[in-house]
Order: sequence, then structure tokens, then C-alpha cells
Amino acid sequence: MSIWSPTSWREKPILQQPTYPNQDELKKVLAELKNYPPLVFAGEARSLKEQLANVSEGKAFLLQGGDCAESFSEFHAINIRDTFKAILQMSVVMTYAGGLPVVKVGRLGGQFAKPRSADTETIDGVTLDVYRGDIINGVDFTSESRTPDPQRMIKAYNQSAATLNLLRAFASGGLADLHQVHKWTLDFAQKSEISQKFEDLAEDIGKSLKFMEACGINSKTYRTLRETDFYTSHEALLLPYEEAFTRKDSLTGDWYDTSAHMLWIGDRTRQLDGAHVEYMRGINNPIGIKAGPSMDTEDLIRLVSRLNPENEAGRLNIIVRMGADKVGDEKTGMARLIRAVEKEGMKVLWSCDPMHGNTIKSSNNFKTRPVDAILTEMKQFFQIHKAEGTFAGGVHLEMTGKNVTECIGGSFTVSEGDLSSRYHTHCDPRLNADQALELAFLIADTLKDAIK
Ligand code: PEP
Ligand code: CO
Repeated sequence: MSIWSPTSWREKPILQQPTYPNQDELKKVLAELKNYPPLVFAGEARSLKEQLANVSEGKAFLLQGGDCAESFSEFHAINIRDTFKAILQMSVVMTYAGGLPVVKVGRLGGQFAKPRSADTETIDGVTLDVYRGDIINGVDFTSESRTPDPQRMIKAYNQSAATLNLLRAFASGGLADLHQVHKWTLDFAQKSEISQKFEDLAEDIGKSLKFMEACGINSKTYRTLRETDFYTSHEALLLPYEEAFTRKDSLTGDWYDTSAHMLWIGDRTRQLDGAHVEYMRGINNPIGIKAGPSMDTEDLIRLVSRLNPENEAGRLNIIVRMGADKVGDEKTGMARLIRAVEKEGMKVLWSCDPMHGNTIKSSNNFKTRPVDAILTEMKQFFQIHKAEGTFAGGVHLEMTGKNVTECIGGSFTVSEGDLSSRYHTHCDPRLNADQALELAFLIADTLKDAIK
């Protein structure tokens, strides 16, 4: 293997990058970003790795969730708070009803760059660059907005810093205190069956807390009742940006990508000899790799050895995103991947992304996902791991705390006709808080069963 450096990816073929018309401006911005303070500290990435090692041993569960793409226009304290609350709600359901601690990782505070299926988009005979996420260009279909602008990286950094600051405050400043469990309910106009189920669970937790209080265990005496750990993650797609935040840890001398605690490689940029794999192999953060139906078993083994040569637990998360109709297929589904990894004795954490293999076009032309397919893929993910004797370690979701109508179905049914009413995503359709909570109850039931 050649020697790794934060810039060695530049020697490799790279996919899914913008072409910046103004290279001088790009250089100036990258030089500026290199001087900016890191967003996370290497020690935090190490703590997350330890917690993920616990997950890979079946002692905890990973919940990773948030926007498909964060955007400049949806940047608001209420949005950050509500996604945070939705993740807390889900995790308390899984912990209380499912019986396992939950490691919480947001697709937040830096999830801006998007891989796309085509480089351009044509509307009414006009062809422009495709939208690649707010860190690169704008979603509006005008030539000005679609031209990649390096200044957007600075704006994305500032938004990530402010988002992370608020998340840290929520996690340790009182909102995450278990005594506030009733306040995590999101105040939508209508009350659904699922939110009632959550109220009942919150009631039970309240009773347990009263009992513990009588025994002298309360928020003042126990930090874990008062605070939580919350980590950030995004797809490491725009490598010039990630390179600018690649810093040597002053404590260990190791390299870390300090733009987030955890980074992942997308399904479109996981070529063994490509730039993204080259970059990721040298950073010491916990990392993820998406595995879609086209993932070849031998390629996966090569990727795992390249990305985790020391076979360190907690380092590598394989995020399986096959689709409900493919995940269970004996020849092309997930079981063959599990068997190959197990045969090599490789330590990995398996999680399920039931979103990206289940995207369809509705009859009224919206990109959507049926909640039924999402639940089906999740269930199969658990069943297959049970059959293989491996631990189904986590879930990776595109979700929001807002009451959007982007995915169809769910207990509080969103129909195709409803899609147009609150369809706000900049990229892929997200589960709304109700749909996400429904999924959490399903996972809790399955976990309870798995650890019996
Ligand atoms: C994503 O997570 O938003 C994404 C694009 O996923 P994938 O790489 O699995 O398609
Ligand atoms: Co997506």
C-alpha cells in the first residue's frame, strides 16, 4: 500500500464531484477552511468508536438518523430541536421497551453533499448542472444557482458549527433529562395512535423515575439521567472540504476528520481504488460503508480489509440498503455478505438503511417511499441476522421531527394525494416523526425478542 496522507486521495480516480469554474476562489476558500477550528474533538470520535464496539458485540443498538440533505433554507433552531426530540423519543422507546442502550448519531451538522444519478438536469429543453447539495450549489433551476460556488463551503461550516453547538446544549443542558420525557412529544395538531402509545410509555417511565427518586437516584446524582451523548455524521463526499478538516490529534498523533464524529462512504463512491476509499482508510474516526444490491461479496471483503486492516471493533459499520424486495434474496441479498464477513472473522457493525432501496415515483410524480416497504426491509434485516446468528446492530434513517408528508403510509396514513401538502425535502423523502416512532416501536419489539 502506498503511503497515506490527507491529500493522497487526489492521486486516485474520483466520482461525484462538482467542477468549480473559479479554481482560484476554490483554493482561497480551502486555505481559509484549513485554519478554522475543528467541529469535533478526536477524543469524542474515540468515545463513539468505543460505544460502537459495544454495539458490534450486541450490548447496545445504533440509531443514526436525520435529513437526507440539510439545507440553508431549512436552517432553524426549531427544526434542529424537533429532529433531536424525535431521535430522543425513538431511543427511549428502544431502550425502555427494547431493553438495550441506544447510541445516537445524527445525520446532522454537516450532511450537505449529495451523490446524484446524473451530472445534469434538463427541464423544458434547458440543461443545467444537477443539484449536488447546498454545500456545492443551489436547488433553484437557474444557471446562477446551479453553478458550484466554493463560498458555500464556508456557509455550510458555519451552519454545522451552530447546529452542533445547539445539539451539544440540548444533550447536556436539560432537554435530554429523562424527567422531560413528556416534553419530547412533538406538538402536531392531530394526535395519532402512535403518539398515544408513546404517552403511555412516558407515563411508565415517570413511575419508574419516581421509584428511583425514592431510592436516592435522581438527575442531580446521576449524569446519565440528566444528559445524553449525541454524535454527528455525514457522507464524506466532497473530499476537498473533508481534507481541510483532517487534523492530527494532539494527544495521539493520529489523523481524524474533524468535520464530524462519524463519516460514511456512499454506495456510488465505494470503488476499492477510488479516491473516497483512499481518503477514508487514513482517518481514525468510526466510519460507515453503504452496501446496496450491487455490492459484490469479494469486493466487500477487500473493502473491509482496506478500511479496517487492524480488525478493530467499532471502526466499521456496514450500512445495508438493498430494498425490501432484494434484501432477502439468497443469491444477491444480505445473507451472502454476512457469511463472507463472518468467515473471515471480521469485526463489523451491521446496520440497516431501509430508505435508499425503497424509493419510488408516486402516480402524481413525487419521489416517495412506502412506509410498508421500509418496515418490511427492517423486519427482514432482523430475521436474516437471527438466522445467521449475527447481531442486527442498528438502523440508519432519513427522518425529521417535522410533520412532513414525504413517505406514504404509516399508522397516521399519508396518501399519494397528501404528498403535495408538506413535501419539503431537498433530496430524498424522509420519515416524519410519527412514522419514525412507529418504526422505533417495531424495532423495540424485535430487540426484546432478540435479547430474550
Ligand atoms: C444517502 O444516504 O443519502 C445516500 C445517497 O445513500 P446511498 O449512498 O446509500 O445511495
Ligand atoms: Co438520501
